[in-house]
Amino acid sequence: MDSKKEKDYSTYFQHTFQAPNLKEARRRRKNTVQHLSDFSIPEDMKNIGEGKHFLIRTYGCQMNEHDTEVMAGILEEIGYTSTELEEEADIILLNTCAIRENAENKVFGEIGHLKAYKTENPDLIVGVCGCMAQEEAVVNRILEKHQHVDLIFGTHNIHRLPQLLKEALLSKEMVLEVWSKEGDVIENLPKARKGNIRAWVNIMYGCDKFCTYCIVPYTRGKERSRHPQEIIDEVRELARQGYKEVTLLGQNVNAYGKDLNDGTYRLSQLMDDIRHIGIPRVRFTTSHPWDFTDDLIDVLAKGGNLVEHIHLPVQSGNSDVLKIMGRNYSREKYLELFHKLKKAIPHASFTTDIIVGYPNETEEQFQDTLSLVEECEFDGAYTFIYSPRPGTPAAKMTDNVSLEVKKERLQRLNKVVNEHALKSNQRLEGQIVEVLVEGPSKKNEEVLSGHTRMNKLVNFKGPKTLIGELVNVRIVQTKTWSLDGELVEEAEVVNQ
Ligand code: 5AD
Ligand code: SF4
Repeated sequence: MDSKKEKDYSTYFQHTFQAPNLKEARRRRKNTVQHLSDFSIPEDMKNIGEGKHFLIRTYGCQMNEHDTEVMAGILEEIGYTSTELEEEADIILLNTCAIRENAENKVFGEIGHLKAYKTENPDLIVGVCGCMAQEEAVVNRILEKHQHVDLIFGTHNIHRLPQLLKEALLSKEMVLEVWSKEGDVIENLPKARKGNIRAWVNIMYGCDKFCTYCIVPYTRGKERSRHPQEIIDEVRELARQGYKEVTLLGQNVNAYGKDLNDGTYRLSQLMDDIRHIGIPRVRFTTSHPWDFTDDLIDVLAKGGNLVEHIHLPVQSGNSDVLKIMGRNYSREKYLELFHKLKKAIPHASFTTDIIVGYPNETEEQFQDTLSLVEECEFDGAYTFIYSPRPGTPAAKMTDNVSLEVKKERLQRLNKVVNEHALKSNQRLEGQIVEVLVEGPSKKNEEVLSGHTRMNKLVNFKGPKTLIGELVNVRIVQTKTWSLDGELVEEAEVVNQ
């Protein structure tokens, strides 16, 4: 590390200055998490945003999307209104993702781009939050090169936004508050949800798996589950408000409940309880094969509102690579689980995450990944070139695979993934599927679009009054990543 990075900036600041520390973030302390409902707005912050606007740009995963809904909820509670226009905004927050280097580069590009708006409007508050804010290298780079940033806070203290914003509004200095120790579970945060059809519901925070390539256990802290009753009440309330679908969220949902009481109420029990709530569709993400238990499979097989889509990241098809990744399963164990799930839920769709070009990955090891994709015939896969994340064990490994080879492997992998995605869609041709209508298609205003229970994107023509409804659609044309269909009359389905 160069001496510049080690500079102690805290001496320059008279106000809140709490910098992140990845080493500290690695520590896992016992029983220090509290479940609180103590979110409140300071008296002098109430209505402070009256007549003012905020804009939040979100990068990365669904967890970040949902955190943005919480931040938007907090800002709306103190009077701000949302805008999509930078020139109209009084606060711009970048809710960032640290999972790969290119995600970080995008954010640094945007931070640079915002300087012009700050020059134009010196009262503008520019804030950086989310996973990147948890990394000391990022914070140091902002302190050195992007002095127009007014506010930095992390993933554990979102509930402190009113207080931090107040300080940023009053202060001429950058306000920095990042906690490296995970926060408590705060239950009464406001949420401004995007849309009224599908909703995210956090069931747990953090990750203790420490896959050797992954920065998440450092940026999101230790696994903390919400109490079942809080989750069930939230889902019930969403059902009452007319939402049609919830996605239960966690970095590793299969570890749900391990940290609660005696650890016997786990994801299977939670899903079984949520099955009885009158909401048409329930999804969950993300699963780790490690904790995927037989009783969870049994519950998922009961169907009902538990939809037939399983996202099961495999990362690699080679047991030696999986071992170095710290995934705690072999190729054979993954396949065993996969086939068990397929047998228990025959119509399920399966998607996965795959990393190519892990340090020193050989051609043969990569071939194992290709053959696993062939065997599983995934409906889709998120595929990535390995990106070293400073602070993680894998980042210290020497690597003899060139970027050129990694890129070529990604292309070869994508070709196989796409072939199977198309094939799985083709199997639906002529079939009638249930679609939750989410709105007009992004590409064509004249067409409605939505997802099936298997999470397939379907476009079809129909009146806008159907938005928010579950309708039957016959699939007439299939593409790799979407299906075209036509609306089916109720009577036709009954006669099928
Ligand atoms: N490089 C590339 N991909 C990564 N992922 C996580 N960390 C890295 C990394 N360092 C991928 C994994 C994970 C998904 C969310 O992102 O496939 O499942
Ligand atoms: Fe990262 Fe592994 Fe945790 Fe997923 S399970 S968030 S890949 S450490």
